[in-house]
Amino acid sequence: MDLAWWQDCVVYQIYPRSFQDSNNDGIGDLQGIIQRLDYIKSLGVDAIWLNPIFTSPMADFGYDISDYRDIDPIFGSMADVDLLIEKAHEYSLKVIFDLVLNHTSNKHPWFLESRKSKDSKKADYYIWNDTVPNNWKGAFGGRGWTFDKQRGQFYFHSFLPQQPDLNWRNPATVDSIFGEVRFWLEKGVDGFRLDVINSIVKDESFRDNPKAFGHRPRPYDMQRHIFDRNRPESHSKVKMLRKLVDTFPDRMLVGEIMVENPGEPELAASYLGKTGEELNLSFDFSLITTSFSAQKWQRCAKRWYEAVGMHRTPTWVMNNHDVSRSISRFSNNEQKARLATFFQLTQRGAIFLYYGEELGLRDSFVYRKDMQDPLGRRYWPFYRGRDAQRGPMVWSVGANHGFSESDPWLPFTKHANRYTVENQELEPDSMLSFYRSLIELRSHEPALRQGMCVFQEQQNTSLIVYTRSLDETQFLVLVNFSSKMQSVSFGEFGLRSSDSEEIFSTTSNSKQPRFSYENINLDGYEGVLLRINKLNI
Ligand code: GLC
Ligand code: CA
Repeated sequence: MDLAWWQDCVVYQIYPRSFQDSNNDGIGDLQGIIQRLDYIKSLGVDAIWLNPIFTSPMADFGYDISDYRDIDPIFGSMADVDLLIEKAHEYSLKVIFDLVLNHTSNKHPWFLESRKSKDSKKADYYIWNDTVPNNWKGAFGGRGWTFDKQRGQFYFHSFLPQQPDLNWRNPATVDSIFGEVRFWLEKGVDGFRLDVINSIVKDESFRDNPKAFGHRPRPYDMQRHIFDRNRPESHSKVKMLRKLVDTFPDRMLVGEIMVENPGEPELAASYLGKTGEELNLSFDFSLITTSFSAQKWQRCAKRWYEAVGMHRTPTWVMNNHDVSRSISRFSNNEQKARLATFFQLTQRGAIFLYYGEELGLRDSFVYRKDMQDPLGRRYWPFYRGRDAQRGPMVWSVGANHGFSESDPWLPFTKHANRYTVENQELEPDSMLSFYRSLIELRSHEPALRQGMCVFQEQQNTSLIVYTRSLDETQFLVLVNFSSKMQSVSFGEFGLRSSDSEEIFSTTSNSKQPRFSYENINLDGYEGVLLRINKLNI
């Protein structure tokens, strides 16, 4: 099968502020990333995705862009980004940028012009109204409409008041946005992660969102977002964007789709377009928001595969800059973290990893006084925001852990010396070695990247069992979600033990023999990959 690179890639997400500081101001930057390309390459990944690096007042740490065509000085310069793209390509790493096209900063020249008056040149670039027309809220608190004295009208913002939403119903706005996208395509960027892309078009007559059932702490979540996001017209806009991107060879769009918890895989899949003519990829966050359970995870994965279908490509993600790190969600249980990664990396499609997860890095603890995230500042102590999962990378033992020579902008995780790259490099059984060998295995086995996944129904509710097959190759994957040893009979799958060969286990020192009396034995929280030498499942 001849697939495009993004159909089976492993992407490494970097939060640039926290990866590597090169000029010792305590904040990571582009030169820092360039210095660490060797390390990134050594992981075996195919691409890097950088959270926003464009000029920004940083009200939402780069998700409020005031100039799409320049780099924020905190991260470096245009020369640095050119060099990063060039060097990454020398390493055969694709480069994905994070584009925020739903809104800009309120300091963006388009907004400064738009707010001047009702008949300014860019009057309709944003969403203005004489009154507060409806019940729409800002996801970061308060109502979604803010009065602007200069223009004498209210403007709509899905997030902070400093992040006014662009008006995608105005063709001139869309033209301008596409101009910014083209700028980066011409510079050789291989793809874009599109922020909240299902929010871009709003209801034309500003109808009220209906109430959501149940009780959630954030007023924003007490509404069903059917009129401020997911409007049918958004699909044609995404299609247009894809057309533009496809005029350049080998580029990719991956979209963040805002959903109601615990997940709406069908909605995420709908933004791929019926025949894959919209986004190349979209994120489903079901596994992040669903508790660790074999039955629940199998249900999520099946539902996502079904929504996407064989003709399009699913993505698999356990971590990102918006959610508590997976190992912290699993109460620091390393075996669970490994098992989740094993499950993730043995799925068909595109894999997204988040810097530091390969070290088993925990969330940082951030005191109220050190809090940076506007969301944490607003909702503390009920919600501490997203600083915890954005802590600095831990390279080496000692002061500031090779991240910087100054104190970092956010604290390191506790006991950071336990998780350094430096030490884990030397440990064959470390989390880092585990990630590397699993990524390497995947890269050598087309069946693991592209092969069909079929879940095997069986009696044991602690296990997920599935096959991955492509052409003549077939794997059987067994994942034990319980802390207790489990035994499965080969007979259940119409196999004998002699038909299989063990290729990988998440536990290096398994206690019992793998096979006994035609049973496969799994340790607590163990995942095993077997090659099947007989095609009969
Ligand atoms: C997305 C980003 C998040 C950001 C928000 C507003 O959800 O992932 O970090 O705060 O959009 O742009
Ligand atoms: Ca710096």
